[in-house]
Amino acid sequence: MSKRPKVTVVGAGNVGATCALELARRDAYDVVLVDIVENLPQGKALDVDQMGAVLGFEPIVTGANDYEPTAGSDVVVITAGRPRAPGMSRDDLVQTNEQIVGSVTREAVAQSPEAILVVVSNPLDAMCHVAKSVSGWPKQRVVGMAGILDTSRFRTFVAWETGASVKDVQTLVLGGHGDQMVPLVSATAVGGVPLAQLVARDRIDDMVERTAKGGGEIVQLLGTSAWYAPGAAAAQMVDAIMLDEKRLLPCTAYLEGEYGIDGLYMGVPVKLGRDGVEEIVELELSDDEQHALEASAEAVREVVAVLSA
Ligand code: LAC
Repeated sequence: MSKRPKVTVVGAGNVGATCALELARRDAYDVVLVDIVENLPQGKALDVDQMGAVLGFEPIVTGANDYEPTAGSDVVVITAGRPRAPGMSRDDLVQTNEQIVGSVTREAVAQSPEAILVVVSNPLDAMCHVAKSVSGWPKQRVVGMAGILDTSRFRTFVAWETGASVKDVQTLVLGGHGDQMVPLVSATAVGGVPLAQLVARDRIDDMVERTAKGGGEIVQLLGTSAWYAPGAAAAQMVDAIMLDEKRLLPCTAYLEGEYGIDGLYMGVPVKLGRDGVEEIVELELSDDEQHALEASAEAVREVVAVLSA
């Protein structure tokens, strides 16, 4: 029996399975993949485990349809939920996924009362509220994944536009995980050189717009949501927590007055370590950026208002 730190991933769909695969490749955690669909998590776990022989990691992923094997997890990643189906309103999606995320949170926290919850299910900001209220846990231990994904999109577009390595592109995206998110051009640089010195304003505007609609672009191409970048982004958050990296990453955190916003989950830079959200980092925004952030907060509040609890 392995005694590595345990990470549970709830939801064995594309995002959950990709996250479990990324975590397995770290060769540092025991990974439990949970789904209500019979045989699905077991089958995907078996496949990933057998990949370990090829790539050189231990076969430590377990599939389960119940939460007993998740007991004592250090981190629980929640990816469960329905994607938006044709004819379904956004409010329908909110209520359906509120039920799903609520019930998996209840079961997961009962088995792992000391864990940190990383929420990935959509609509992301609202689902963070559900996980926090159902668990009753402090805000430090309930955090959402969106900003790493959104910045990965912006960084990719900037790398293409400038011909630079994506590794040298730094940026921040604030706000809710929706079309009104706020990619911060003022915080974007390539190897330390501000983006505005490298790329014309209209091209920057195009990249900002493409980033904000980046999830929808993939849904249009594939007929379903993205999973490679989202799964990898969630795994990066797990590493930051488990290795106590104190990384400064854009994550969805519960704001209580920071950025002038109170009682709302939103994307902001946080310091992520073994205690979860150890700090919310506030940076000075221009008037335009602050207004954009407030508009994004308003959009999140409208979705949160649809929640039943
Ligand atoms: C996206 C979905 C997964 O942004 O939220 O691709």
